[in-house]
Amino acid sequence: MRYLLLSFVLMAGMLSSVFGQGVLIPQPVERNDKQGEFIPNDKTTFYINIKGEGYDVLKSQLEALSFTLKASPSKKSNQISLFVDKKLGRTLGEEGYRLVADRNGVTISAPSEKGLFYGIQTLRQLSLEKRTGDKVVLPAVEITDYPRFGYRGMHLDVSRHFYSIDFIKKQLDIMAFYKFNKFHWHLTDGAGWRLEIKAYPELTRQAAWRHGNTWKEWWTTGRRYAHEGEEGAYGGYYTQEQVREIVKYAADRNITVIPEIEMPGHSEEVLAVYPNLSCSGEPYTACEFCVGNEDVFTFLETVLTEVMDLFPSGFIHIGGDEANKEHWKKCRKCQKRIKDNDLKDEDELQSYMIKRMERFLSSHGRRLVGWDEILEGGLAQGATVMSWRGEQGGIDAARMGHDVIMTPGEYCYFDQYQDNPMKQPEAIGGYLTIDKVYSYDPVPAELTSAEAKHILGPQANVWAEYMSTPEHTQRMIFPRLIALSEVAWSPVENKNWQIFKTKLDTHFDFLRSNGVSVSPLSSEIEATREVDLLSKVIKVTLFNDVDQSKIYFTTNGLEPNLTSEEYTKPILIDRSTIIKAQVYKNNAPYGDVQEFVVDIHKALGKPITVTGINSGYPAAGQISLVDGQVGTLAYKDKIWQGYTEPMTAVIDMGSVQPISYVKARFMQLVGPWIWLPSKVIVSVSDDGENYTEVGVDTHNIPADTDKLIFHVMGFEGKAKGRYIKFEANPYGKYGAVMFTDEIVVY
Ligand code: ACM
Repeated sequence: MRYLLLSFVLMAGMLSSVFGQGVLIPQPVERNDKQGEFIPNDKTTFYINIKGEGYDVLKSQLEALSFTLKASPSKKSNQISLFVDKKLGRTLGEEGYRLVADRNGVTISAPSEKGLFYGIQTLRQLSLEKRTGDKVVLPAVEITDYPRFGYRGMHLDVSRHFYSIDFIKKQLDIMAFYKFNKFHWHLTDGAGWRLEIKAYPELTRQAAWRHGNTWKEWWTTGRRYAHEGEEGAYGGYYTQEQVREIVKYAADRNITVIPEIEMPGHSEEVLAVYPNLSCSGEPYTACEFCVGNEDVFTFLETVLTEVMDLFPSGFIHIGGDEANKEHWKKCRKCQKRIKDNDLKDEDELQSYMIKRMERFLSSHGRRLVGWDEILEGGLAQGATVMSWRGEQGGIDAARMGHDVIMTPGEYCYFDQYQDNPMKQPEAIGGYLTIDKVYSYDPVPAELTSAEAKHILGPQANVWAEYMSTPEHTQRMIFPRLIALSEVAWSPVENKNWQIFKTKLDTHFDFLRSNGVSVSPLSSEIEATREVDLLSKVIKVTLFNDVDQSKIYFTTNGLEPNLTSEEYTKPILIDRSTIIKAQVYKNNAPYGDVQEFVVDIHKALGKPITVTGINSGYPAAGQISLVDGQVGTLAYKDKIWQGYTEPMTAVIDMGSVQPISYVKARFMQLVGPWIWLPSKVIVSVSDDGENYTEVGVDTHNIPADTDKLIFHVMGFEGKAKGRYIKFEANPYGKYGAVMFTDEIVVY
């Protein structure tokens, strides 16, 4: 009997740890579930102990709850009461709150209106937990909560695609629901200037419009601008009145809007209208401002003055990324600027510009933030760095004592594919699954705790080159943004992917019922391999994002179904096999059958020498092509090896032997400039010096495919030798990268 009781207690404990988590995203710092519940009825009231504008904002947020409430004086029961209590700031920080719900009602207390705002968002989410039909049942609970990071951002590129004010408002609503507090508005770029500037009306008359509805169409047809009202002109801009409306709408949701005005690069739209601001003085010749020209500074300072008037944000973003400094080398004015100011080179010329802008902004009480290229040539005093080309820029800046916002491409670029690129609408490339977003920690392990204080927080970047409808853009944002909300808000020790994924169905329903398009969770199975090169055994682990899914698989070539083996532990493979696997949810197939080829081939672990490896994509180094590891859908997975030079791999098989198959798989993904080789040559040799060519393989796959392609190339036939030479040349376009993962030999 005691035994039984104990196991019951244990089981209850386990259940509460699995199911007692509720659906709150981001997971709060502390949540204690209590007995009972509060059921609001038509007599339930609310009380807020503040007056004025703050009261109205909180009241309207309460109205977003799915039940209606009337204001009343403070009372003990059947009320939702909100209290600002400044003293709480000592334990909760500026944005924290405490929420207590019991049979009598709900009390939210916080040191500021911001904290109350977040308490209400939590209450809104609690109202999704126990809903039965129309009836809202709030669980009895005590929550103490505050954010890990003060900066929790999302960026939106409105240049490549123009988004309506309504779209942006909806985005701000949802951001607030997930406790984001910064909206980085990428207002200017080559594909269109989107902000009304009173001093320069031509900017929006001429450069807010273009030929080509989509970025790709514009980019591939001469990148021309159009006049407002011209037939077929695509584009638009925000009037200053609309901007003020958005800034206010965001502020009411505790979101600061950070405007970005690009300089010195990504500015071809300005230079088309004002060619005198470019080095050549001609339109359509460069994307960069001429840094030697004082008129450029007059222009930028005039623009930024209007920007500061519109945006109360402390941060003003000046871009700073991807400037091509070649024009400056040939420009008389730029060279004079370099000489007059004792600058070393064009990097320092860029830094000269950014430093001037930093002084200008700080003299107006604002802080400059820029992409990590602003480190080149010396970082301006007081500048904050947005680290996007990985984390190194952020690490360097933090070590120099500068504040940093973390937006590394690998975790934060939502323009990448989130699901199998072969089945998705075209994206810019890359592969960023929701679980990868979730796994991100914005504080790099190598920073000391003092340096880590400079990491203000993470931000998702939503570049719109390949997002040309609002629905598609939302699908690229959701659900990945809600994974980032937990990265930005929750303590690391509270993060748990297994628990997080149990909450997603509720949030998908919430978002969809609020008119937001959400991408379904990927049915993709990720397979990772642990390879024992000595015993030639490969242990394959399968993983899928979907909650309460099961994977069934076969290794005998048959199609998997519910009677096949269920995946519960890694599969040990000791001879070449194809694993066929299928995800099931609620006993129904979710997605398609997926195949994983596991080759226990003859060259596994053999000595290999490879030349031509690009230092950016070394994978596991020399052994990579015979290490049994097979690339995933992501070329940056550190398994795919990349080459920008001709590649030659020589494998020493140890003794002369028959060779019937030498093939490698290549990738093509045109967005990030990845192409198949046009030709592969395989040769064999007995002595490692005299080679006989045994196979030349070509293909006729066009170079402009819009989907991810894998293609296997090499030799199949009869040959003999000890050494195998495998040669492949990258596609003949400057900057093209070729990727392969394994040379399979039988
Ligand atoms: C960037 O993605 N060019 C900042």
